[in-house]
Formats: sequence, C-alpha cells, structure tokens
Amino acid sequence: MKGNITLTLIKPYAVQHGYVGSILAKINEASFRISAMKYLQMNKKQAEQFYAIHKGKPYFEKLVRFITDGPLVVALLERENAVEIYRKLIGATDPKIAAEGTLRKLFGASIELNAVHGSDSDENAVWEANFFFSEMERF
Ligand code: TYD
Ligand code: MG
Repeated sequence: MKGNITLTLIKPYAVQHGYVGSILAKINEASFRISAMKYLQMNKKQAEQFYAIHKGKPYFEKLVRFITDGPLVVALLERENAVEIYRKLIGATDPKIAAEGTLRKLFGASIELNAVHGSDSDENAVWEANFFFSEMERF
C-alpha cells in the first residue's frame, strides 16, 4: 500500500537564494497538504544522523557541510501516494539531468546544491517525520 506522507527539506542553499516562497507554491499546486513545518538550522551531529545512510560516500562531508550551512525549511507533506509524486515533482538528484519544470531543475545549482530533499520510501518518510516532528507539531 502506498503511504500518504513525505518529508521535504528546502535546503540552506535554496533558502539563501530566496526560493522558499516559490518552492512552497509549487508544493501547494501539486496538491500536497502541509501537515507540519518549521525553520531551523541542523548541527553537524544531527546532519550526520539524518544522512547516516550516506556515511562513507565521497560526497558525505560536503553533504553535511551544505545541509548545516544555514537555516532550512522542513515540512511534512501529505497527499495520496506522497513519496512517489513528490519525487517526481523534485526531479533527478542532479539538476542538470532533472526534467523541465521540476524543483531541482528550477531551483538547484548542482548535484550538491540541489535545492530540496524528498523521502525515497514510505518507511524513510515515517523515520524522517519522527526525526523532525513531535506528535504535537503535526496537524
Ligand atoms: P541521494 O539520496 O542519492 O539523492 P536524493 O537526494 O535524490 O535522494 O543523495 C542524497 C544527497 O547527497 C543528494 O541530494 C545530494 C548529495 N549527493 C552529492 O552531493 N553527490 C552525489 O554524487 C550524490 C549521489 C548525492
Ligand atoms: Mg535519497
């Protein structure tokens, strides 16, 4: 069964370039309901935990550096088939090969500075939602 939540980060790069409003507008246009949202800066330890699966990869240190570079927007998104539809909306990891009109194509600069995160499975969406949001922060 397909789940109905996914977790997104509007990464520090996109915040710094003033893309928050435009990205949230696209999320709304794609019929996602925002069930939780906040603005925060992750520390190194939190970033290493969030991206633990990428530990040991050649890009890991840069990944942690860029995600902790400044405040980001984290939001829990809800709609039918959320993970798959949001991954389609954000596009490929590398903005250079992401489809036209996708968030990463529109707002990303490079594979490292690709503007947004989106959960890659229902299981990870639940884990990521619990990582960032308590019960009383969800609506
Ligand atoms: P990954 O989970 O493979 O991509 P996605 O964000 O599409 O699920 O990688 C996580 C993040 O790590 C990615 O958004 C950006 C960074 N990254 C790099 O900087 N270089 C790389 O070669 C890869 C694969 C990822
Ligand atoms: Mg991923």
